[in-house]
Amino acid sequence: MILVTGGAGFIGGNFVMDWIAAGLGPVVNLDKLTYAGNLDSLKSLESDPRHIFVQGDIGDTALVSELLARHRPAAIVNFAAESHVDRSIDGPAEFIRTNVVGTFGLLEAARAYWNTLEGEQKAAFRFLHVSTDEVYGSLDKDAPAFSETNRYEPNSPYSATKAASDHLVRAYYHTYGLPVLTTNCSNNYGPFHFPEKLIPLVIHNALAGKPLPIYGDGQQIRDWLYVKDHCSAIRRVLEAGTPGEVYNVGGWNEKANLDVVHTLCATLDELQPRADGKSYAEQITFVKDRPGHDRRYAIDAGKIERELGWRPAETFETGLRKTVRWYLDNQAWVANVTSGAYQNWIGKQYA
Ligand code: NAD
Ligand code: TYD
Repeated sequence: MILVTGGAGFIGGNFVMDWIAAGLGPVVNLDKLTYAGNLDSLKSLESDPRHIFVQGDIGDTALVSELLARHRPAAIVNFAAESHVDRSIDGPAEFIRTNVVGTFGLLEAARAYWNTLEGEQKAAFRFLHVSTDEVYGSLDKDAPAFSETNRYEPNSPYSATKAASDHLVRAYYHTYGLPVLTTNCSNNYGPFHFPEKLIPLVIHNALAGKPLPIYGDGQQIRDWLYVKDHCSAIRRVLEAGTPGEVYNVGGWNEKANLDVVHTLCATLDELQPRADGKSYAEQITFVKDRPGHDRRYAIDAGKIERELGWRPAETFETGLRKTVRWYLDNQAWVANVTSGAYQNWIGKQYA
């Protein structure tokens, strides 16, 4: 048994499904079901007794303690977070509450529970915290990719709150000996990605005949990681990572945003051509830049490869193709998550 938090979100949901499909054991899935959490993504597990879903907040220490005492998990994997940079600029308070205060509450409950364990169980317990490369700030064009020893220089309210949570996790190892592991990964993409982030937003808008919004000049660089590769990296770190250590996880896929959008358009042109025969690239529209927009992220994933033998299986081309295919085949999921509150956000952000 493991406890996963944020398992109704994009990465957490993929992780839970892959974990159960691999026969690795049952999962208690604690998720607050914010706008980003969606039980529709977990439909395949609806009547599976290996998946126990609990709606609740990671900062609710009484609830988390009760779950830990009842289910006695061998590990906690913390995905729960507010995760969208633009929303953190619009309203940072919820980011402080969940990413900082919430992670603190979860750590407190984990520490109390871990202290009740003995022998083998205590030694084997792990608290894995899922974080981001954005804590390292922005890279110059020719600077080496982020390694685990890069200085923390977060630039958005989102990355600042993730940085704060990483520091708390580190402190619980050094101060209390809690066996923590931290992973800092690059931009994920793949199935069940909420269409507020670049790749699913562009696929969704393209098919709806809407503009494909490019912030600024579109030359910002991200390092793209297929979500299933990220999930396999987390499984590997849980299995073999050294407590107290940090592992950077990346896809070795640095791409400028404009190139990503052109590749998406070309893939859609091939798989689902526009009725008028023109390219989806005609819908590309340059819009106002994001304040404090980080220019470049890139991950040096050498440590996890050297020490744990993990490398991503997908190239950007193969991963992106699978992703586009998935969205074309799962328009009902998209229609469901883009009804209601989603429209308010899009209206406000791209007004
Ligand atoms: P997401 O926004 O899709 O999902 C977050 C999930 O957490 C949602 O299901 C939401 O309901 C839940 N949640 C939010 N607040 C909660 C709370 N207080 N208590 C319990 N549940 C709560 O995010 P994601 O893209 O799946 O990201 C998962 C983790 O990975 C986050 O910690 C994020 O910072 C990190 N990360 C994401 C990316 C990426 O590209 N998506 C890259 C690097 C790191
Ligand atoms: P996003 O998917 O929000 O992830 P992050 O900000 O965590 O990297 O954005 C990825 C990149 O795409 C980022 O440089 C901002 C840019 N972007 C656009 O150009 N247009 C958009 O509509 C969105 C949502 C993002």
